[in-house]
Amino acid sequence: MHENELPGSQAPYKLDAGEGVRYAFGNHLATRIAGPDQLGQPASGTILTGAKGSRFPVHRHAATHEALFVLDGVVSLTLGDDSYLLTPSDYVNIPPGTPHGYEFVDHRGKLLSWTFGGNAAEAYIKLGKPFAGNVYQECRDAVDWSLLDAGVDSELVNTSLRAEGDSTSKLTAAPGGPVPFVLAASEGERMIAGDQVYTILGNSTHSNGAFIALLTEGPIGMPIPRHRHERVTELFHCLNGQMEMFAGDGFLTLDPGDFLHVPPKTAHSFQLKKHDTRFLGFVTPGDFEPFFRYLCVPFDGYRYPLIPPPFRFDRVIQHLSELDLTILERPSGPPPQPAGD
Ligand SMILES: [Fe+2]
Repeated sequence: MHENELPGSQAPYKLDAGEGVRYAFGNHLATRIAGPDQLGQPASGTILTGAKGSRFPVHRHAATHEALFVLDGVVSLTLGDDSYLLTPSDYVNIPPGTPHGYEFVDHRGKLLSWTFGGNAAEAYIKLGKPFAGNVYQECRDAVDWSLLDAGVDSELVNTSLRAEGDSTSKLTAAPGGPVPFVLAASEGERMIAGDQVYTILGNSTHSNGAFIALLTEGPIGMPIPRHRHERVTELFHCLNGQMEMFAGDGFLTLDPGDFLHVPPKTAHSFQLKKHDTRFLGFVTPGDFEPFFRYLCVPFDGYRYPLIPPPFRFDRVIQHLSELDLTILERPSGPPPQPAGD
């Protein structure tokens, strides 16, 4: 297992909070946590922080689909014709062609950005310089935005006509299809598997099949059965609490801010080790989504209940032939329900 380095191939690796490849531009800091070499596709993961008032001007990607998740702070976002005031755990879907830009409103702004299908994340390498520090610089250096040339899928948009208006309301349910939207914290399509609540923030239709984004939260629990995928990559971000992961050939712990990359063909499982543990997962490609619909049942609540419904792993077993899933051990916990739902 690689730790605190990006391997040169699609190998499993863990990054502690703040680790990655860091680029500074002005008083912005971009930390690359995954790129095409690790993901085996034109995709990247980046953590963006910046001083109060630092901004990334409005731009659009021709081919890159981007998703943003607010990790900390308050962020002003322009998305199409709308403006939003983002706060922690908000989720933003940005299909190709959508003008978007942001400004950090306070000193604690931190965004997680995942990009798929294009090289938009090369912008941070073009704009920035390798940086040894792990927090943004408090400096007044101007950013030379003209460095964003045609070689990077980020085209600045003239925003002189943009209306400065009130903030648009964030959604409590995402529309279907590859449209831009902002989902408020904890909103989305909620479902439950045993004692864990799953919330789909971005489903497969939102990114034309590129990925799904979902939150999982629960109390101290049993490990999920160890398993492997042939094509699917899973990207785990621990947000709260603590998780014990099995990945490849051993166990490791994820604390808040830690990241784990699980490429195809890697045996893995997770176990929530503290109460109210919450993690964000990106799963690519998005056609693995039916797994979660077999595993879970729809759930109206927002927090995991004291008495959980039955764990329906039997439904996953029933549909195993449709899924990119090889189960490597029997599930622990209560015995499976009889088939025939
Ligand atoms: Fe998995």
